Amino acid sequence: METKNGKTALVTGATSGIGRELANLFAKDGYNLILVARSDESLQQLAQSYEHQFGIKTTLIAKDLASDDAGQQVYDEVKQQGLQVDVLVNNAGMGEYGLFATETDLQKEIDIIHINVIALVKLTKLFLKDMVQRNEGKILMLGSVASVIPNPLMAVYGATKSFIYSFSEALRNEIKDTNVTLTVLMPGATDTDFFNKAGASNTKAQEKARETSPADVAKTGYDALMSGKDKVVHGVANKASVAMAHLLPDSAVTSSSRSDMKSTNEEESHSIAMSLGIAALAIAGLVVLSAWRNYNPVEKSYTKARYRHKANNLKDSVADAISSVTDNLTSKASNATDDLTAKAKSSFSDLKETVLSAVN
Ligand SMILES: NC(=O)c1ccc[n+]([C@@H]2O[C@H](COP(=O)([O-])OP(=O)(O)OC[C@H]3O[C@@H](n4cnc5c(N)ncnc54)[C@H](OP(=O)(O)O)[C@@H]3O)[C@@H](O)[C@H]2O)c1
Repeated sequence: METKNGKTALVTGATSGIGRELANLFAKDGYNLILVARSDESLQQLAQSYEHQFGIKTTLIAKDLASDDAGQQVYDEVKQQGLQVDVLVNNAGMGEYGLFATETDLQKEIDIIHINVIALVKLTKLFLKDMVQRNEGKILMLGSVASVIPNPLMAVYGATKSFIYSFSEALRNEIKDTNVTLTVLMPGATDTDFFNKAGASNTKAQEKARETSPADVAKTGYDALMSGKDKVVHGVANKASVAMAHLLPDSAVTSSSRSDMKSTNEEESHSIAMSLGIAALAIAGLVVLSAWRNYNPVEKSYTKARYRHKANNLKDSVADAISSVTDNLTSKASNATDDLTAKAKSSFSDLKETVLSAVN
């Protein structure tokens, strides 16, 4: 069936969460869809509603992407049906919550590597080759803020997202002289079934996820894909976290990320104090970065002196911010935790505003 744009998008993990919202956007724009997931029943329901609502053609491939040859089998089914994939969306993904050494299930983690990495690499290999030959096509990869921020208590999941980021950067460089584009969507915690399936219910990350709808995340990714952007981080707070991750020591970034993975019942003043310190250091980094970007070595010496003066002021403000974190921690010993938490939250929110305005 020829739709209004006549093109076809293949979406993995299309039956739920971000993948389903992405499929909705393609369907609304008249793309025919190849939908991949395990649940045949959910795929059938989705297909019926798309065909009825938008008059598009849907092709369903019920496949467990954790199985060894799944990527090749999906490609072969597409070819057997004589279809061309104009847009590939590597969205299917899973996580597993717990301490790697003692709590998580190794087989589940190997399945995660299969779904998030091996199937993605195979599908990309096969469809990208066709796209490069035709000199057209688009690929969307589901990364995460975990692509650049290590993820304690979901260590394997985080590492798979990091793989996707590095892999995508390298491929983009290799295909830069073609008309094929590759976009990485990097959401933070999003309100889908992901955390329940990963066994991460009642974590702070899941609580935070309630603020972000999968429809909004999908729209961010879809727009970036359509305009051929390299990557996009969804949400201002996530953009600030990613900026901080590029500026701060890995161990500090990882500690802060771990605090997000704690149970909602755990005491949180330490993580807030850590965040305050991180925010203070980030402000320092951003101001220095901005000064460095503006710095022109042939400018007159008074300009250099102005930067030196700014740097000295900055040093003082950072010292103040850090000592305020220390004071907060010290007062924790003698004051009620609730009081500390309220103060720390308010200071953090002020610091965050400063970071955000520096980023913008
Ligand atoms: N939610 C978040 O906070 C968040 C944040 C950053 C990035 N992401 C990424 O966004 C992507 C989508 O996640 P989501 O949050 O939308 O999760 P979700 O609601 O759990 O959806 C996952 C989708 O993947 C499919 N899937 C899972 N295992 C599969 C397998 N073995 N074979 C084939 N399909 C499989 C599921 O369908 P079936 O169960 O029917 O197979 C479902 O359609 C993932 O790559 C995830 O890492 C999510």
